[in-house]
Amino acid sequence: MLSVLQLSVSLLLTAVHGRSLGIPTLPFSSGGGQLRLSDIQTVIVDANYADSVDNRGDTLIPPSLTDFSETFVQDMKTLGVELALEDAGESRPGSIFLTLGDPTDYLDAAGRESSEGYTISVASSNITIAGSSSLGVWWGTRTILQQAILNNGSIPRGTVTDTPGWGTRGMMLDAARHYYPPGFLVEMCAYMSFFKQNTFHLHLSDNLYNNVDIYNRERSLELYARFRLWSDAEEVAGLNKHKNESYTRKQFDHIQSACAARGVTVVPEIEAPGHALVLVQWKPELGFEDDLSLLNISNPDTIPTMKSVWSVFLPWFHSKTVHIGADEYTAGANDYNAFVNAMADHIHTASNKSVRIWGTFPPNYTQPDYINIYPNVSVQHWEFFEDNPLYDYILNNYTVLNSDDTFYVVNKWSGSYPQKVNVSATFIGNPNTGGSLWYPYVFDTKNSSNNPLRDESLVLGEIAALWNDYGPNSSVYSEAYYAWREGIPALADKQWGGNLTQSEFPNVLQTLLPFIPGQDLERRIPSKTSTILEYTFGRDTASQRSISDSSGNVYDGYTDCSTTGSGSIAIGSCSVTTPLSSKGRNYTLTLSFQISSLEAPTNATLIAGGDSALMLTPNTTFFAGGNYYRLNSSLPLDRRLHLDIIGRGNHTFAKVNDGREEEFLTQIGVNGERFEWGPMAFEAPLHQIGGEGAGWTGQLYGLKLSSLA
Ligand SMILES: *[C@@H]1O[C@H](CO)[C@@H](O)[C@H](O)[C@H]1NC(C)=O
Ligand SMILES: *[C@@H]1O[C@H](CO)[C@@H](O)[C@H](O)[C@H]1NC(C)=O
Ligand SMILES: *[C@@H]1O[C@H](CO)[C@@H](O)[C@H](O)[C@H]1NC(C)=O
Ligand SMILES: *[C@@H]1O[C@H](CO)[C@@H](O)[C@H](O)[C@H]1NC(C)=O
Ligand SMILES: *[C@@H]1O[C@H](CO)[C@@H](O)[C@H](O)[C@H]1NC(C)=O
Ligand SMILES: *[C@@H]1O[C@H](CO)[C@@H](O)[C@H](O)[C@H]1NC(C)=O
Ligand SMILES: *[C@@H]1O[C@H](CO)[C@@H](O)[C@H](O)[C@H]1NC(C)=O
Ligand SMILES: *[C@@H]1O[C@H](CO)[C@@H](O)[C@H](O)[C@H]1NC(C)=O
Ligand SMILES: *[C@@H]1O[C@H](CO)[C@@H](O)[C@H](O)[C@H]1NC(C)=O
Ligand SMILES: *[C@@H]1O[C@H](CO)[C@@H](O)[C@H](O)[C@H]1NC(C)=O
Ligand SMILES: *[C@@H]1O[C@H](CO)[C@@H](O)[C@H](O)[C@H]1NC(C)=O
Ligand SMILES: *[C@@H]1O[C@H](CO)[C@@H](O)[C@H](O)[C@H]1NC(C)=O
Repeated sequence: MLSVLQLSVSLLLTAVHGRSLGIPTLPFSSGGGQLRLSDIQTVIVDANYADSVDNRGDTLIPPSLTDFSETFVQDMKTLGVELALEDAGESRPGSIFLTLGDPTDYLDAAGRESSEGYTISVASSNITIAGSSSLGVWWGTRTILQQAILNNGSIPRGTVTDTPGWGTRGMMLDAARHYYPPGFLVEMCAYMSFFKQNTFHLHLSDNLYNNVDIYNRERSLELYARFRLWSDAEEVAGLNKHKNESYTRKQFDHIQSACAARGVTVVPEIEAPGHALVLVQWKPELGFEDDLSLLNISNPDTIPTMKSVWSVFLPWFHSKTVHIGADEYTAGANDYNAFVNAMADHIHTASNKSVRIWGTFPPNYTQPDYINIYPNVSVQHWEFFEDNPLYDYILNNYTVLNSDDTFYVVNKWSGSYPQKVNVSATFIGNPNTGGSLWYPYVFDTKNSSNNPLRDESLVLGEIAALWNDYGPNSSVYSEAYYAWREGIPALADKQWGGNLTQSEFPNVLQTLLPFIPGQDLERRIPSKTSTILEYTFGRDTASQRSISDSSGNVYDGYTDCSTTGSGSIAIGSCSVTTPLSSKGRNYTLTLSFQISSLEAPTNATLIAGGDSALMLTPNTTFFAGGNYYRLNSSLPLDRRLHLDIIGRGNHTFAKVNDGREEEFLTQIGVNGERFEWGPMAFEAPLHQIGGEGAGWTGQLYGLKLSSLA
């Protein structure tokens, strides 16, 4: 494990102009000099507040000051800093003292008290973090980690007094049209939290675009549509038909509590009455005849059905706000608004939770007989063709969350949106200040008259969305991370109210990236040289069982196979395993081997890892993220082969015996109209070669992993 205390960081930062670099940047008043973290031994939790929690945020499972302190101590350990943790009444030299301060010191952009502010005082031998609440202290600990990384293991002396401008800061992931495993979501929360984002909105039900011009009823009823929560409750029997790509209550609890432990609230969304094909596939009579992805709200069973679905899942959710979707409904404003109000009433009565919707049919107080949504329903604006957040909502006293599609991403391909966050717009997307830093009050990046003032209290914050419009085979899990890798920190700085500039951003981010605790989204493997692992099989391997790694990294393997006597291992129901699981971009994985027989010609696994498997189906194939990606070629039997799998940036290639590189591509279906081809970036599978069920026998001569591509 790398230690920041030993790291020679290329970027040494000095605080200037009343601020420190960080993501977000910090208001900082310098005291001169630095405190080395190696001079700190203890984290002291103020015993007066050890059990204190923040009840003002959106989470219903807020960690206590002690809970957050424990996570902080673990995080410091990943930086190579071992700290003891204790409760005491006061600070002392060599400690970081965690306590609560006066909440009236911390005001948001609208001038209201925020529970998320904090002050850090760094003296010559000790540090105090005082938070507006335990959550404020937590954000202060993120500052300590970042400053230690950016300053080569030291914290500049002086005072930081820091408060977020907006209370809702985060991302929305379309986990409906693409499944993501719980572990991935938890790692994303860790990444977001490091940059002080506090909200992860999960879109949990949806369908591919129901192209009614070309799909008949039968095809619509078979179109990819998913509801990701799995319950055995009778009321929802048959709604979810895909248990292996769902979240059980236990898993959803784990996701919510692991995210909450890092200050991130999961806001769940179950979408209706539009994007509701999965509900219609369950109860076809509820669908609108002309478009089965829309619920027919006039059907007397529709609202009761949705109420009973929510009744099953409300007890699962640990946020004060839940999202009922209500996006892109084209079958009548009054039906829609009546639906929203009925659901808001039901959800409030059943659970005391508030409701959020996507901006769709704005209020109109002058049109007779028009039903207006309740003013206590919060609105998530995404596009000006749906609403004008200032004139339609804010001036009518609705709270609005900014999700303007300026920052939309659609994974891998889209006719409308980019595949990575428009990072540049975070730096120059503010028409109210002549094209400088964007902030959450900026809904319209072109026309300042559509934006409220910076201190508008009805602006909740911002959530940037990633959609999987073209379904599950467009990407593997980690490609959602890469689409957001620069976007999350760039947005997080502005969502908080920081003022990092476009020229400062790349260096600060590159310096922080290798050290972000609680996640390993890039599947990094420490290595002394570019050769990460190398196995060759001498004649004596069989008796040893252990396989020695000649890379110098001691990633020794294990086998229960026997040697062939000619520098290879006989693979069959026995296997070779490594202590590694996956390697992210970039890499070259080289297998030197020979296949003697294929017991399962369409389902043989050459090498398997935590994120992917390389297979023969019979074409050479990657299985990853629940999908198969095939080359137009297979591998010959009974010949010694040298197979390179190359992960280069966002592409993956295979090369046999130094022949030409063949790329793994995905064929993306576009609304049933045509296909687009896109690159795929798989993690290298590293854990096991052969074994029960692998479906082939042969010889393995060598295995090598390099970080070069
Ligand atoms: C970083 O700290 C280490 C250990 O204290 C020191 O050896 C190294 O010179 C420092 N690097 C820089 C760039 O100051
Ligand atoms: C950035 O914000 C800090 C407060 O965090 C302020 O002191 C500084 O003047 C700002 N810098 C610019 C360029 O706006
Ligand atoms: C450092 O510790 C002393 C007690 O030993 C305390 O009075 C002082 O407030 C602390 N300073 C900081 C910045 O934590
Ligand atoms: C909607 O449901 C109502 C009541 O069941 C029915 O009369 C109407 O035909 C349905 N409309 C469509 C377009 O399916
Ligand atoms: C209902 O929720 C509100 C807002 O979160 C809270 O203030 C109130 O205490 C809750 N009431 C009950 C009975 O839980
Ligand atoms: C509200 O309804 C009135 C009457 O139908 C209409 O003239 C007006 O344009 C509507 N306002 C908005 C903002 O849509
Ligand atoms: C919005 O709320 C403010 C303060 O409560 C009130 O003065 C104003 O009349 C309200 N405006 C509308 C359009 O309801
Ligand atoms: C792949 O990476 C290249 C180079 O970084 C970039 O231009 C391209 O947009 C990426 N493609 C996708 C689909 O992410
Ligand atoms: C879930 O099961 C389906 C049907 O067997 C399969 O196609 C899919 O790959 C599985 N998903 C995952 C993530 O393994
Ligand atoms: C497998 O490769 C052959 C060419 O060798 C190609 O014709 C075929 O379409 C491929 N099959 C799949 C499912 O990709
Ligand atoms: C991976 O390779 C691509 C293409 O050569 C390069 O642009 C990128 O910087 C490399 N990434 C890493 C992490 O080395
Ligand atoms: C493929 O092989 C794996 C591993 O033995 C097995 O779990 C899976 O069921 C097989 N799939 C098919 C379609 O035969």
